[in-house]
Amino acid sequence: MAEVIIVDDEDEAGEIYAQSVASLIKAKPDAVLGLATGSSPLAAYRHLAQHIEAEGIDVSKVRGFALDEYAGLDPSHPQSYRSTITRTVVEPLGLDPQLVQVPNGNLDTIAVAGRQYDEAISAAGGVDVQILGIGSDGHIGFNEPGSSLASGTRIKTLLEQTRKDNARFFDGDINQVPTHCITQGIGTILKARHLVLLAFGANKADAVAATCEGGISSFCPASALQLHPHATIIVDHSAASRL
Ligand code: GLP
Repeated sequence: MAEVIIVDDEDEAGEIYAQSVASLIKAKPDAVLGLATGSSPLAAYRHLAQHIEAEGIDVSKVRGFALDEYAGLDPSHPQSYRSTITRTVVEPLGLDPQLVQVPNGNLDTIAVAGRQYDEAISAAGGVDVQILGIGSDGHIGFNEPGSSLASGTRIKTLLEQTRKDNARFFDGDINQVPTHCITQGIGTILKARHLVLLAFGANKADAVAATCEGGISSFCPASALQLHPHATIIVDHSAASRL
């Protein structure tokens, strides 16, 4: 059973993450951070940026690996996860962009990019702390229901529902949302030494309940956190309402 912390709001959750990661970086200046897109981690990044600034923490050696990327979308596209991670993490935290990797969604190389990405994570010594959001269907990264719990980084098809959810970032037009992605596998995610999953709002309540109290099943990919020795799930009261 993962540790579950119920908080009042995203700021309280973000501060818990930020204090833990700030201490990590002070103890290990070349810490490896697992990064996620989506709205759930934004307050956590904001609070971490405040700690870095207020405490003058040296982040010049901090390394980062993002969870996922759209397939076939140019990295310079404003909605690519490369652009999103640059905007929400690399710039506000002052990280060295050369030390932050995002899976390569180029269609010409995608067949081998997954294995190479997992090798790069291993070569960096593994992820110290992986931040995670959760989809309303229980997906983590872009591991949709049915994804193997032992999977490595690989190309995946996006579900219609996920494309609909993300159409808001593409002028509300689902046809502009890529049909495929490259995502760290659940097996990849489970190798991180500490997992921190953040979920807020009533539309995450079912997924949070299935994650924490349902059986371990590929049909709720986040339930794989039950297999991890150090997983922390931080939720607000609405997201915790079905626990
Ligand atoms: C996308 C991302 C996930 C994220 C999910 C939920 O599918 N690939 O990593 O967890 O959206 O996003 P949000 O945090 O905005 O609810």
